[in-house]
Amino acid sequence: MTQIAHDRLLIIDFGSQVTQLIARRLRELNVYCEIHPFNRVDAAFLDEFSPKAVILSGGPASVFAEGAPMPPAGLFERGIPILGICYGQQVMMHCLGGKVERGHGTAEFGRAFVTPAAEKHPMLEGWFADGREQVWMSHGDHVSQIAPGFAVYGTSPNAPFAITADPARGFFAVQFHPEVHHTPAGAQLLRNFVHLAGFNGDWTMGAYREEAIRKICEQVGDAKVICGLSGGVDSSVAAVLIHEAIGDQLTCVFVDHGLLRKNEADEVVTMFRDTYNIALIHADESDLFLGELAGVTDPEVKRKTIGRLFIDVFQKHATAVGGAKFLAQGTLYPDVIESVSFSGGPSVTIKSHHNVGGLPEKMGLKLVEPLRELFKDEVRALGRELGLPPSFIGRHPFPGPGLAIRCPGEVTREKLAILRAADAVFIDQIRKHGLYDDIWQAFVALLPVRTVGVMGDGRTYDYACALRAVTSVDGMTADYFPFSHEFLGETATRIINEVQGINRCTYDITSKPPGTIEWE
Ligand code: XMP
Repeated sequence: MTQIAHDRLLIIDFGSQVTQLIARRLRELNVYCEIHPFNRVDAAFLDEFSPKAVILSGGPASVFAEGAPMPPAGLFERGIPILGICYGQQVMMHCLGGKVERGHGTAEFGRAFVTPAAEKHPMLEGWFADGREQVWMSHGDHVSQIAPGFAVYGTSPNAPFAITADPARGFFAVQFHPEVHHTPAGAQLLRNFVHLAGFNGDWTMGAYREEAIRKICEQVGDAKVICGLSGGVDSSVAAVLIHEAIGDQLTCVFVDHGLLRKNEADEVVTMFRDTYNIALIHADESDLFLGELAGVTDPEVKRKTIGRLFIDVFQKHATAVGGAKFLAQGTLYPDVIESVSFSGGPSVTIKSHHNVGGLPEKMGLKLVEPLRELFKDEVRALGRELGLPPSFIGRHPFPGPGLAIRCPGEVTREKLAILRAADAVFIDQIRKHGLYDDIWQAFVALLPVRTVGVMGDGRTYDYACALRAVTSVDGMTADYFPFSHEFLGETATRIINEVQGINRCTYDITSKPPGTIEWE
């Protein structure tokens, strides 16, 4: 368990997909918090962790289910403020003498509006300026009777107990999710909660950095570590952070799997060698990766193959540097949530992000993943804190499996060369128009289809490509970028004229969800 001098808030996780957003909102408020699954928190844990306040997250379960997730015994008798969110509200009521009913006909998903009750509560400071607040509901069961000591402070048409509190005990329980963007005043509610709980907001990115360094030293001891460097901001921040922690125990391995963008390998290796004094191996493994990918068309098989080969290559280099025991990666929270389900089962796996889902069980290296709790913009803030060059911090994300997942169907050297050339033109256009920093990520996907065209007086029969550019806050949801028609027309003309092998260009206007950002 972490030992730190700051006041700590404990988030007990009941398995909601958005629990990490609670942590993120709290970090924005400079509050130190940790998320622990409900089944690992008991009275002894609470004694040791000594939280100044607790938040009970939402979750998919029903309090009626056999073995329903419950908070630890004695939690409500510790005299600390507690906020229950959604399922967290239901377990609070269930444990404290209220009633919960099954969701027949009253399940509610999506936007709702809450209006205030007659009584005011300081938790709602800044709320209801316009008479009501938009909130985001996502629940099956609902509270039908509040526990003794609680009163109602806000209702919505379908949730008579949308906001409830027991002011004497500092308990607060809401039916909706204050942590998501769709509850615009939710952050204010969390701010009020931590303010009332007495947090002084002294947890900064500088403190996060110190803490992360301490944890890395603790985990690694005097062992050697190799770090998979992709040139993206995540692995670069991870490498610099780990280097601060353990110095020359770290060797970075930049694997060129033959699936990189134009000039990428040179740029990354040069930037790292020029700026940092970190041992760096440049491993050209393109024959290995492209050889194994020959004939593979299924997206998950591609991802798993690439993940497996990465591990083989890392293991080879781990031995070469004199027996590294750890592999460091820049895995972020969205990679984790989209690759593994809460229960650890495969049911909701959307993609096996290579740095999470593709690792073979028998890997001889342990993982160091210092960014595993963070979202992209937080990693960028940490990168700034660590002094990484702004041009590096601003780079668009690039996935570990590289161009393989932007090339639906079989990946061949010929297709990769065409894709690289088209992608370079698209990014050049975006930079020339001053749009690079307004876009989360932009790239070209080469479609596995040839179409007929006419150029000059001749017939062409070449590949079609799709341009993809999205805005996003954290990669978990995304909107397509609204380029002007002029920009799109000019870009299509340039790609078709400058790139041999492409004769048709489309623009992908799918948001996420229902699409994903990458094509595979
Ligand atoms: P999707 O396509 O899942 O992508 O909407 C969300 C974000 O994650 C990136 N991505 C990956 N990053 N390894 C990574 O390091 C992967 O296997 C991977 N797959 C997708 C993607 O580029 C986008 O930024």
